Amino acid sequence: MIGLVLFLFLFPFASVSSYPNNCPKCGTMDVPYPLSTSDNCGNPNYKVYCKNDTLEFLSSVGFYYKILNINPYTSSLIISPPFIQKDTCQSSDLSLGGFKIGENSPFNISSRNTVMLFNCSENILLSPLNCSSSSPCRRFEEVSQGRNCKNTLCCSYLKDASMTSHRIRIRDGGCTAYISLVDFKAEESINAWRYGIELQWIPPN
Ligand SMILES: *[C@@H]1O[C@H](CO)[C@@H](O)[C@H](O)[C@H]1NC(C)=O
Ligand SMILES: *[C@@H]1O[C@H](CO)[C@@H](O)[C@H](O)[C@H]1NC(C)=O
Ligand SMILES: *[C@@H]1O[C@H](CO)[C@@H](O)[C@H](O)[C@H]1NC(C)=O
Ligand SMILES: *[C@@H]1O[C@H](CO)[C@@H](O)[C@H](O)[C@H]1NC(C)=O
Repeated sequence: MIGLVLFLFLFPFASVSSYPNNCPKCGTMDVPYPLSTSDNCGNPNYKVYCKNDTLEFLSSVGFYYKILNINPYTSSLIISPPFIQKDTCQSSDLSLGGFKIGENSPFNISSRNTVMLFNCSENILLSPLNCSSSSPCRRFEEVSQGRNCKNTLCCSYLKDASMTSHRIRIRDGGCTAYISLVDFKAEESINAWRYGIELQWIPPN
């Protein structure tokens, strides 16, 4: 009897104490530890932002990306690539040079992202990217967001370990728009594309 009382008494504390500092939900989305939406919860090194019930990730150059999905078991989350602005072939983070994470951040870009760059200048052809007419980036022209990138020079690449894991660079006079797909498979139809940039974090000690 005492054992049972003790168990009922201790159990809620045991389950809470494994995550001492979990943040409350943001809208309908759970915010698992160590992600932190305020100074009072989570781990301050893993800051994310809850704005208007939408969870967002802030790049090191000051652009907010919507968080689509979080997987605490693989220490990863997926953010939405920025919009390509209406009637242009320019990503909305173009003026900031694209996506960037600080070198000392616990987050990095995972190796499951296929990045597609659009409206590139000719000198990109010197780099080891797939800019051929059979590159999967050509297929993006079929969807409405890619319409204004039609017939621009586009290239794709898998953002694997040979690439920097802290930025996706675009600029005027380089490439001016990009998208990213998580776990892209060449044989899949465009309707199955999973738009997103997958980030990983180093778990806190
Ligand atoms: C907040 O979200 C609601 C519902 O998603 C939306 O209608 C509203 O415009 C948003 N407000 C701001 C300031 O973004
Ligand atoms: C570019 O990608 C396409 C489709 O995946 C592939 O068939 C082609 O061989 C690639 N070309 C280069 C130069 O890597
Ligand atoms: C393509 O990039 C150039 C600059 O490199 C820019 O002037 C032009 O507006 C871009 N095209 C579109 C359709 O946005
Ligand atoms: C990103 O961080 C994870 C977790 O620390 C690590 O396992 C992975 O190797 C890193 N990826 C790259 C591409 O640096």
